[in-house]
Amino acid sequence: MFLTSAIRSVVSKTSRQVRSLHQSAARAGAGGIFVHRDTPDNNPDTPFEFTVDNLKVAEVLEVPPMRIYEVATFYTMFLRQPVGKYHIQICTTTPCMLCDSDSILEALQNKLGIKVGGMTADKMFSLIEVECLGACVNAPMVQINDNYYEDLSPKDIDQIIDELKAGQVPPPGPRNGRFSCEPAGGLTSLSEPPPGPGFGVRADL
Ligand code: FES
Repeated sequence: MFLTSAIRSVVSKTSRQVRSLHQSAARAGAGGIFVHRDTPDNNPDTPFEFTVDNLKVAEVLEVPPMRIYEVATFYTMFLRQPVGKYHIQICTTTPCMLCDSDSILEALQNKLGIKVGGMTADKMFSLIEVECLGACVNAPMVQINDNYYEDLSPKDIDQIIDELKAGQVPPPGPRNGRFSCEPAGGLTSLSEPPPGPGFGVRADL
């Protein structure tokens, strides 16, 4: 969707319920809350052991615990709560929001029956809302585990979740037919084969 039409679409949604900019969805659960709250399974007395594999690469850092806390609470890739087998991160930052990420979030919540910060009862899916994932040109988009799903419509969410439930991995990337992040309206430059060696060089050289 082009940005201007996207803006018009957002502005024209006054008749529908539009989430105000200052009303972030309630954050809780896996990586969704920036302040730690002790829970029965996540508190200072919770036992922790590195796995044998982790221990091979882990360094025990001699820095104040607050430094670790600052990093772990700032970056959403540090998961401080258990997440589902498929961890869904939806971007709702401005470019995605202008391309109607609200409809993608609504589709996810309806399909999974959970809210942001929640996890399905079978522990298959968890959902959090994150800031820009660096794929703005393919907005709106979500990240599911290591894969990006881009140029999404609510119908795509339905298909993607159904395929994951069926044990398949839907092909990542744009869902609107374009290749990677090429212009949605087709190429406007670099549309001819590049000239060969010597192009533009004087003939007498
Ligand atoms: S704003 Fe959504 S990927 Fe950048």
